Amino acid sequence: MQSTPSDTILVIGAGGQLGLELTHELRQRYGASHVVAADVRAPKDAATTESGPFELLDVLDKNRLEEVIRQYKPKQVYHLAALLSATAEKNPKFGWQLNMDGLFHVLDAAVDLGVQRVYWPSSIAVFGPDTPRENTPQLTVMNPNTVYGISKLAGEQWCEWYFRKHGLDVRSLRYPGLIGYKSLPGGGTTDYAVDIYHKAVAGQSYECFLEEDTYLPMMYMPDALKATLDLMHAPAEQIKIRSSYNLGAMSFSPKEITASIQRHLPDFQVTYQPDSRQQIANSWPASIDDQHARRDWNWQPDFDLDKMTQDMLLHLKQQLQPA
Ligand code: SER
Repeated sequence: MQSTPSDTILVIGAGGQLGLELTHELRQRYGASHVVAADVRAPKDAATTESGPFELLDVLDKNRLEEVIRQYKPKQVYHLAALLSATAEKNPKFGWQLNMDGLFHVLDAAVDLGVQRVYWPSSIAVFGPDTPRENTPQLTVMNPNTVYGISKLAGEQWCEWYFRKHGLDVRSLRYPGLIGYKSLPGGGTTDYAVDIYHKAVAGQSYECFLEEDTYLPMMYMPDALKATLDLMHAPAEQIKIRSSYNLGAMSFSPKEITASIQRHLPDFQVTYQPDSRQQIANSWPASIDDQHARRDWNWQPDFDLDKMTQDMLLHLKQQLQPA
């Protein structure tokens, strides 16, 4: 089902790192009036409200969610609201409640109110310290040890269950760390790879909260948007995995991203002060085997580390220039 221009799409968590960019991309493709942005907070970015419909929505409020779905009758819902890894470790009960109850509310409302397709993001956090770290396969030992990872793994299984029991066309990707210049991440373990570019462009040094040789899977935002929309546009019979797809693009360490930035800004300096996020990073894969995504719906990333660095620095410098 390719969404037609008259269909409505609802994005829950539209004010977040991914939500901001995805809402913008969907509005470009389908027309702003067909993409309803919803978030628990009124957007700081006026573009989200001015360019199309916006609804205040706490996904834990099931009645309000149903009200919004009844009002707009979306054919597709992107449910992106969640607490990320570092924040959920600090607030475990709320992290579990938001990540699980929010998902149940969306899945139940989709079944009850006739939403045809649901997108829900999973993460590399579904893997744990017992998982093979290099080229982590789709099917392997999981055993996540963070609240965020446990909630994402449970969520994947529930998505598959709703597909089997209710025939709900729910689709999901296990994102690596996402890096973009239009929005900031909030409370994740991979956030350093966004923060570091902002400091570099501001002419400041950066204190990194991970050790210099910590390799993690990462992805530039244009690739994440492409993967998400390609997955959502693929014919249903091509979607063989209804839990969540491994998705890879690049893998690097803080030392390597620093070197990549220094090729453009040779004076840029980084110091290292690992904190509790180091333990989380140590429990995650270093690189991802995403052959199922490549085979089932032709996934292919466009950006490697140096191409991303060039693009990030260019856009962040432009943002710093007075309008
Ligand atoms: N980027 C996320 C985090 O660090 C992983 O999905 O929490």
